[in-house]
Amino acid sequence: MAVIRLHLPAAADPDSAGTGAGSPPDRSYDIICGRGILDQVGDRLTAAGVRRAVVVSDAAVAASHARRVSESLAARGIQVIPVEIPSGEASKSLSEAGRVWGILAERAVDRSTHIVAVGGGVVGDLAGFVAATFARGIPVWQVPTTLVAQVDSAIGGKTGINLPAGKNLVGAFWQPSGVFSDIDTLATLPNREYLSGLAEVVKYGMIFDPGFFAWLEAHAAELVDRSPEPLAHAVERSAALKAAVVERDEREITGARAALNYGHTFAHAFETAAGYGRLLHGEAVAIGMSCAARLAADMGRIAADIPGRQDAILTSLGLPISLAGVGPLAADELLAIMARDKKSVGGRLRFVLPSRIGAVDLVADVDEPLVRRVLAG
Ligand code: GLY
Repeated sequence: MAVIRLHLPAAADPDSAGTGAGSPPDRSYDIICGRGILDQVGDRLTAAGVRRAVVVSDAAVAASHARRVSESLAARGIQVIPVEIPSGEASKSLSEAGRVWGILAERAVDRSTHIVAVGGGVVGDLAGFVAATFARGIPVWQVPTTLVAQVDSAIGGKTGINLPAGKNLVGAFWQPSGVFSDIDTLATLPNREYLSGLAEVVKYGMIFDPGFFAWLEAHAAELVDRSPEPLAHAVERSAALKAAVVERDEREITGARAALNYGHTFAHAFETAAGYGRLLHGEAVAIGMSCAARLAADMGRIAADIPGRQDAILTSLGLPISLAGVGPLAADELLAIMARDKKSVGGRLRFVLPSRIGAVDLVADVDEPLVRRVLAG
């Protein structure tokens, strides 16, 4: 088991920290990674003084992982209110948030009740958003049960829902009180979903840590097989790298946290143009990273062998590096979507691009013909 401490100072406004009075508490929290962690949630929440918990999950995990967490809480005398949301991105909606707010109101939830989010990114984002907004903020604990949630979305406090006009357009930064990542939950993930999470793991090596990138190159086959020891290391290292960047730039102000968007400008355009659901997010990120590395090489920012090295590791992890399986997407449409991306300024194209393995920069004003060339393959 590994415990990674994410250090954050107290919030300026004591009310927003959910205490209501007195000096605001430090918002640092632990990310606990390892095997059998689901059964420890009750002990840890008891130690934190929790007496009542709303366990939010979806149909995929309600009868399995969420039940185990609820049993662990009940065994320590914590009263559990289970709330199940439908599986899938459609649950990140105002109507679903409203339904959950209604249940919390009916059950007289107040700031002494904690939310425990058990599931993947949709559950974590929705439950986190409900926690951020109900009664002006109640504490939330994240229990991610997918790879992408364990290495990315459950850490760092981004919560939100989608609008018809775009994903994550309404939300809040609301840091969890703790994160419990049990890698045993990854054993039963559908293969495509599991592999897609590995794209975000490769991303950490590319943007922050050349040693980790080399380690991933050496252990790709074991990760594809979900071998527990290498998998635990991959989750722990990714979580530690994410925690470090959130500590430096919690609200994505300095640009440090924006490094996490490596490959994502291309990826969002591919997902939007292909139609949501055709590409899993991690698959789109893998293709997006491949494009971003080739763009960086064409601009002379990185050595010519780096795109090939990155493509090789993505391929060995069973991830796509081109749109071949999706069919042709019109460059004009992709460029229009990228120009609307929140990282673009005034329609000018901006990308997170590597300067070497382990370092990236936000590069403004990238010439459109160069992007077209990369899109053409
Ligand atoms: N997933 C990107 C971030 O947390 O900033």
